[in-house]
Amino acid sequence: MKGFFLTLEGVDGAGKSSHIGHLRELCESLGHEVVMTREPGGTPISEALRAMLLKESMHMETETLLMFAARQEHILSVIAPALASGKIVISDRFTDATYAYQGGGRHFPAERIQILENWVQQQLQPDLTILFDVPLEVARERLEKSREQDRFEREGSAFFERVRAAYHARVSADPGRFYTVDSSRPKADITQQLQDLVKTRLAQHAAQG
Ligand code: TMP
Repeated sequence: MKGFFLTLEGVDGAGKSSHIGHLRELCESLGHEVVMTREPGGTPISEALRAMLLKESMHMETETLLMFAARQEHILSVIAPALASGKIVISDRFTDATYAYQGGGRHFPAERIQILENWVQQQLQPDLTILFDVPLEVARERLEKSREQDRFEREGSAFFERVRAAYHARVSADPGRFYTVDSSRPKADITQQLQDLVKTRLAQHAAQG
């Protein structure tokens, strides 16, 4: 089977991190080699860019370019080689986050994101993207209970409403790639849903060769 690229998305506090470990175990139990990674990050250079992006104030143009610089390094060093050797890559966020946060949240023009996407990714797109979706009040409540907040997490509710709306627009534009999880449901239900989804999608992917 050629590699399978799975990405996880959602506003901060949507609960995606509580399912990542299970997704990995599930894929491994089905006999696949899995590379778990994240964006921004996933390589030493991209992690250094992440530290800067989460901490330092900057213009949104710089922020968007640094997101794609980190992504370029990540694709060339980690994602593309893993997919070429038939592995499953699970990335905690990818380019949909740029459309949602920089595009939706900061009003950075989507056409310019698309230019960078085409340049950096060429044909690479996730095979499946799971969007963890939750009403904003729930996400905010979870965030406020969490550790020290980073530069994005400190944004206000209006910013996160725009991020969430931009994610919904991404789903509407490409419904076949996305699966939306109602993250306010009990964790065990979500785990079961994800298990069924991933098994089905991997079987379809294998059948397509
Ligand atoms: P995380 O908290 O899920 O690890 O993500 C780090 C933050 O970076 C999160 O608040 C979303 C933000 N982000 C963007 O703004 N644009 C992007 O392209 C990516 C990948 C993340």
